[in-house]
Amino acid sequence: MTDAEDLAARTARRAQIAPGTAAGVDEAMIARQVHTFYARVREHPRLGPVFAAHVEDWDTHLAKLCDFWSSVVLMTGRFKGSPMAAHAGAADIQSSDFAVWLELWRQVAREVCPPAAADLFIAKAEMIGESLRQGLEMLRAAGSQRARRTLSFPG
Ligand code: HEM
Repeated sequence: MTDAEDLAARTARRAQIAPGTAAGVDEAMIARQVHTFYARVREHPRLGPVFAAHVEDWDTHLAKLCDFWSSVVLMTGRFKGSPMAAHAGAADIQSSDFAVWLELWRQVAREVCPPAAADLFIAKAEMIGESLRQGLEMLRAAGSQRARRTLSFPG
């Protein structure tokens, strides 16, 4: 088997077992969910300004987010990024923003996807969102402990 055949066989195997395949998700549905969601995010009174402060090029951001969701639900492995580092680098993201983000994500999923696909997008976002939120809180708590130690014991 050539490398290309091997890759094609592995890709096909992953597509068979990917959770999105059973739920009827395809790339067009991912694009619809991601593009509709971020159009609403940009208009949102709380989330909009946070994204406006960090995202310079929306076309690049949307392509990256489509790759992310393709990797999560279709196991394509297309996403190359670090969500934890990206969120940790945005100091204006608050823990309470995650519930707002997720509520909007659920609304859009119910609107633009069939029920099984919406259930999957929602379940995955809830899991990933919770681990990002907890990770951020831990990082920030560790950071402020370090800052307090530095302040209490200068030099
Ligand atoms: C709850 C589930 C969430 C998921 C699944 C998610 C997913 C992602 C992913 C995959 C990226 C790209 C990471 C990379 O560049 O490697 C990203 C970037 C970003 N996210 Fe989230 N996110 C979530 C929640 C939030 C929330 C609540 C906010 C705050 C309003 C937020 C704000 C941002 C911003 C501003 C960026 C761009 C960071 C930068 O490029 O500097 N995200 N997100």
